Amino acid sequence: MPATMILGSQWGDEGKGKITDYFAEKSDVIVRFQGGTNAGHTIVVKDEKFKFHLLPSGVLHPEKKSIIGNGVVVDPKVLIDEIESLGKKDISPNLFISERANVIMPYHKTMDDAEEKLRGKKIGTTKRGIGPCYSDKISRYGIRMMDIVDEEILKEKLNNVIPVKQKIFQAFGEKTTLSRDEILKEYLGYGKKLRKYIADTSVIINNAFDDKKNVLLEGAQGTQLDIDHGTYPYTTSSSTVAGGGCTGAGISPLKIKKIIGVVKAYTTRVGEGPLPTELEDETGQHIRDRGGEYGTTTGRPRRCGWLDMVVVNYACRINGFTSLAVTKIDVLSGLEKLKICKAYKYDDKIINDFPAEPNVLKKCTPIYDEIDGWEDIKDWKEIIKNGYNALPENMKKYLEYISSSSKVPIGIVSVGPGREETIELNVG
Ligand code: GDP
Ligand code: IMO
Ligand code: MG
Repeated sequence: MPATMILGSQWGDEGKGKITDYFAEKSDVIVRFQGGTNAGHTIVVKDEKFKFHLLPSGVLHPEKKSIIGNGVVVDPKVLIDEIESLGKKDISPNLFISERANVIMPYHKTMDDAEEKLRGKKIGTTKRGIGPCYSDKISRYGIRMMDIVDEEILKEKLNNVIPVKQKIFQAFGEKTTLSRDEILKEYLGYGKKLRKYIADTSVIINNAFDDKKNVLLEGAQGTQLDIDHGTYPYTTSSSTVAGGGCTGAGISPLKIKKIIGVVKAYTTRVGEGPLPTELEDETGQHIRDRGGEYGTTTGRPRRCGWLDMVVVNYACRINGFTSLAVTKIDVLSGLEKLKICKAYKYDDKIINDFPAEPNVLKKCTPIYDEIDGWEDIKDWKEIIKNGYNALPENMKKYLEYISSSSKVPIGIVSVGPGREETIELNVG
């Protein structure tokens, strides 16, 4: 059985967690393949809210296998907290963590903070140590999950890395003194707790393919936060796009059959960097309040703006989405007029392809199409029961605009945070 991928098409927080949880029902194995505790995925089941930073959003289906792939950076303390808080609700995840996944160490968090302080233009990171951990992975200083269960190896690696980190701290004016013994003790403690979950997850996923099981890959962040294809340098440090799913899970691209792009019906962004359709007015505040657009990880207000099809179409090109899941369209209900950005104007030129240079992007002005809004909807139950055709006419026009501009069919329309607040269209 081939795999399905769920990816963010904008700047994250598109509702990937909800869509993953929805598809998890039909899957056997659910895999996170990149990112770390910078992610915040909220799932609502029968009025109960679950917030996950590291656990795959499939864990609420304990009969399924949940996998943290090699491409993820794992903060073991946060992971243990998440597992324990699920335990309090009598959910014990059927979890496997890649032995190859890199581990977030205390010095990564210190550096995340120190780098932001020294940087001229801030990124506005989540300060979870993500960037420094991926930097260490690339420069081959990383500590991997398999190391925290082996005292001798961890000791040797810390002996190598700590003097280097201490020198870098000095250069950054950072006064913290790193104690090898304290870090060793703390991380061996985590290793002890997590040992039973650590495995060669690529083998598990590929065995699932052989056994004709359904594999679901859950992306974190979004295409515009991708380290290569996002609004660099205002990005995260991992590969958030479809290609990242293969390297981050240890599977062949030939196994991927469906790639679902999650598109929020408007745009949001947390942190710094240009956002062409940003609304710094009452409408932006209205969307923020109505959509609950405050970060799951840091609580920061999310910047809000109109839907930007230059962004979405770019994500379609990079990822090759086979269908779209449009989320949070309910949030736009009751607005008289809606705008969708179809292109940018830059120096009297019309731009359709998302520019790579942030300074160009900053000077781009959106060219909008205006669409009539639809009435506020009090009772969604009847509409959901009757499916797509029962949606307000102008909402359907809005959705058809998205599919005709992107040339990708819409497979899901999400009209609320709950599992049941989902309308599925038959797109194969
Ligand atoms: P993710 O990071 O992509 O998983 O998204 P987040 O969980 O950070 O943010 C999405 C938020 O919107 C969460 O609070 C979800 O519960 C909520 N949500 C998801 N889909 C919908 C929807 O269709 N309508 C509404 N109103 N809320 C939604
Ligand atoms: P989910 O999975 C929204 C943003 C941060 C910052 C930039 C770099 O919930 O969609 P980092 O800590 O990763 O080095 O920060 O990336 N960012 C996110 N924004 N949703 C996320 O995840 C994000 N993960 C990182 O705000 O601008
Ligand atoms: Mg989120």
